[in-house]
Amino acid sequence: MREWWKDAVFYQIYPRSFMDSNGDGIGDLAGIESKLDYLSGLGVNALWISPFFKSPMKDFGYDVSDYRDVDPMFGSLDDCKRLIAAAHQRGIRLLFDLVANHSSNEHAWFRAASAAKGAREHGYYIWKPLAGRKPNNWKSLFELRSAWYPNKATGERYLATFTRFQPEFDWRNPELRKEIYDVMRFWYGIGVDGFRLDVATAYFKDERFRSNPFSWNAVPDIFQRHIYDRNRPEVHEVFKDMRRIADEAGERVLIGETHGQEAQLAAECHGKSGDELHMAFNFDFLNQPWSAAAFRASAERWYAALPPGAWPNFTLSNHDRPRAAFRFRTGDPLVTEARARLAAAMLLTLRGSPFVYYGEELGMGCQRIPKAALRDPLGIRTWPLGFLGRDPERTPMQWDASANSGFTSGRPWLPLNRDYVSRNVAAEAAEPDSILSLYKRLLALRKSRASLREGELAFLDGEDREVLAYLRSAGKERSLVLLNFASRPARFSLAGPALAGGEILLSTDAARGLGELGAEVELAPCEGLICDLR
Ligand code: NOJ
Repeated sequence: MREWWKDAVFYQIYPRSFMDSNGDGIGDLAGIESKLDYLSGLGVNALWISPFFKSPMKDFGYDVSDYRDVDPMFGSLDDCKRLIAAAHQRGIRLLFDLVANHSSNEHAWFRAASAAKGAREHGYYIWKPLAGRKPNNWKSLFELRSAWYPNKATGERYLATFTRFQPEFDWRNPELRKEIYDVMRFWYGIGVDGFRLDVATAYFKDERFRSNPFSWNAVPDIFQRHIYDRNRPEVHEVFKDMRRIADEAGERVLIGETHGQEAQLAAECHGKSGDELHMAFNFDFLNQPWSAAAFRASAERWYAALPPGAWPNFTLSNHDRPRAAFRFRTGDPLVTEARARLAAAMLLTLRGSPFVYYGEELGMGCQRIPKAALRDPLGIRTWPLGFLGRDPERTPMQWDASANSGFTSGRPWLPLNRDYVSRNVAAEAAEPDSILSLYKRLLALRKSRASLREGELAFLDGEDREVLAYLRSAGKERSLVLLNFASRPARFSLAGPALAGGEILLSTDAARGLGELGAEVELAPCEGLICDLR
């Protein structure tokens, strides 16, 4: 039987920003539950929810102080159980975010560990003597300084490569491993369908703590090749354990966030015989310029890197990088909108599970956030440099044109994008040509066509390099996808028996009438077409 996650379209929710049910200005689990009908109407069938566990929120939930409870700001464990049941009732699966490279410094484990060398939990974290020089050049990514922090009580330094409030676990410690595996079992018992594993390839550090070599890459690598503080081979043992535990629970999925941009590194997370993670996040589209050739090369690299049997995935945006509609913006808002529509058609027709970031279906972009309103530690640290911080991609979901877009009755934790008055769910749902309506059509088409869900993919070479063209086929069903990345019209020739005869099923351009495909297709600027080939 084909695994459910291969046919799933995932939707990422950043819970602080999705829907606030109690007026404190911060989204919560009951808010997500109240929007499940919207999500099922959109056509997504799995949600990845960024962390909502107990946390002092120094990195907005990516610093967990209790792995088995919900932060009161987001609700309660009962709210969580209700959410799971309500989602499952609608055929929507849920993935939680397991932050297991580090905890919060306020976790009971770290409190005990940092108080006394003799504590059992001391061994859960990484320590070096305070006296003398720092052990190496490893850096805190969000503080842009050394990752080694003093702990006077034990006369040691601990390691934290994000903020100082996120001390890193020692995954070589068997008791720590068992704790985390038990956390996974706990949530499986409650009904979660899988985990997104935060910085999964960072769990292990070099045994000898060697300094990272220099790299020219400033963002996000801060001029280091992360070969010693991340990406160590020992991690595969842990991935195998995690896979066994997921398999025991049955029908669960593990998708790892991997550090670094190399497809090969991410691909290795599947394991040599497919016995590790089900998927490794493919972030490569986040780094591509607006060009058909760039996206094609990126997808080809990914497909080629995956081991046999591994299933691909694609992402245009997430909570760490500026949104796609913003990255691909032009001076002309109509072209920007057409690009967002074309990108959606690509994401939802490639071979692999798509991940849609909340608000992407509205064409939400990013705007500069005033200094006083910044919340992300990285944004505050790097101000006034624009868009290195992550607040702009985390602004509240735009539900309607009422005050604060209907997201909250209180004061939103981040300012809303100014365009929410016109760009919102209520307005776009009422407009058949909106990008939201296009997403719904694309998702429905994907659901109804096996070729788009599971079919093979072959790229096609046309004369115009700005047209990305591919054929998806499953049995007799064939879907032809033509995506014109240029802001001028383009042609694609269907001459020859292989492509002759077909019907246009969907266009990203509202002006196009559907119907028969001719021998040559003329694509409007930034138009995408999905066609049925006979
Ligand atoms: C990656 C997450 O996506 C990011 O948001 C977080 O700040 C870091 N990991 C640290 O947990």
